[in-house]
Amino acid sequence: MSFVFNLVLVLHLLGMAAIVGGWFVVARSPRIAEPIVWGARAQILTGLILVGLAQAGWSDHKPDNAWVAVKLVVALAVVALSEITRAKNKRGESFNPNLVHAVGGLAVVNVLVAALWT
Ligand code: HEM
Repeated sequence: MSFVFNLVLVLHLLGMAAIVGGWFVVARSPRIAEPIVWGARAQILTGLILVGLAQAGWSDHKPDNAWVAVKLVVALAVVALSEITRAKNKRGESFNPNLVHAVGGLAVVNVLVAALWT
């Protein structure tokens, strides 16, 4: 059963790589590339599945509720900012380039929460 948890964790790590890697690629000329938005969406879905599987005993430990809440709020900000900025990019509207850095920076915040808040 933990194989399934680990498989979803791999998808979760690939989603993280899409956001952070995508951000590195566009850092010099900020815009939201498609993989960043898909990575942000994937993090919410795979994260919630991981929490569900852990609560059902498919992992060797259950995540703390405060930990999950912090990660969820940060991830919702990441997905909202990336969707809004991507829509503006597509329509050719002006946008604040710092929002692109906020998306990447907040994703890194969630990596820090995941790895350091144990
Ligand atoms: C931008 C969004 C996110 C990023 C960058 C991110 C990043 C990560 C990383 C790097 C890990 C691996 C940590 C490790 O194995 O030591 C992880 C694990 C995990 N994440 Fe996320 N995460 C995000 C969003 C979420 C959300 C929204 C949830 C749930 C609501 C969530 C729940 C989890 C869970 C349950 C684990 C497994 C922890 C464990 O048992 O080892 N994540 N995340």
